[in-house]
Amino acid sequence: MKVLVLSGANLGRLGLREPAVYGSRSYADLVTVCQKLAGELGLAADCRQTDDEATMLRWLHEAADLGVPVVLNPGAWSHYSYALRDAAAQVTGPLVEVHLSQTHAREEFRHHSVISAVATGTITGLGFDSYLLALRTIAARIHDASAPADPPHPADQAPA
Ligand code: DQA
Repeated sequence: MKVLVLSGANLGRLGLREPAVYGSRSYADLVTVCQKLAGELGLAADCRQTDDEATMLRWLHEAADLGVPVVLNPGAWSHYSYALRDAAAQVTGPLVEVHLSQTHAREEFRHHSVISAVATGTITGLGFDSYLLALRTIAARIHDASAPADPPHPADQAPA
């Protein structure tokens, strides 16, 4: 099962960008760890990064059309892009919003995400682990959805 791992504006500059906030590892390092864990979980992680909002919208439309789950770090778009929110709302597979930094401990404008209300869940502040936990929860949900339903518990059956 394919998973789209989408990173937005400025995330291609990981390692160079404010290392005290985002760490010293690069975007290429992030892709490596995501693909390694995804492989172990039986997922194929298609990792993409763009600084172009229209491109990100197209990728979300693709996920919606194909029913593909998404790990999404919208970067600064989290805080103001209603267009991205409307695109994320169309994704029917799980969509987990992630942030590397603890946005709630930073500037006031980072405390609110317009994406969160349409995300299945949000993982914030755990560095690369935010992405890795998102992949784990997506794998668990896919596994649960494909597992045969449990037989009814005897206590739930009507007496004969
Ligand atoms: C970020 C947090 C955003 O506030 C910021 O604009 C980013 C990265 C994060 O991963 O911590 O670009 O999404």
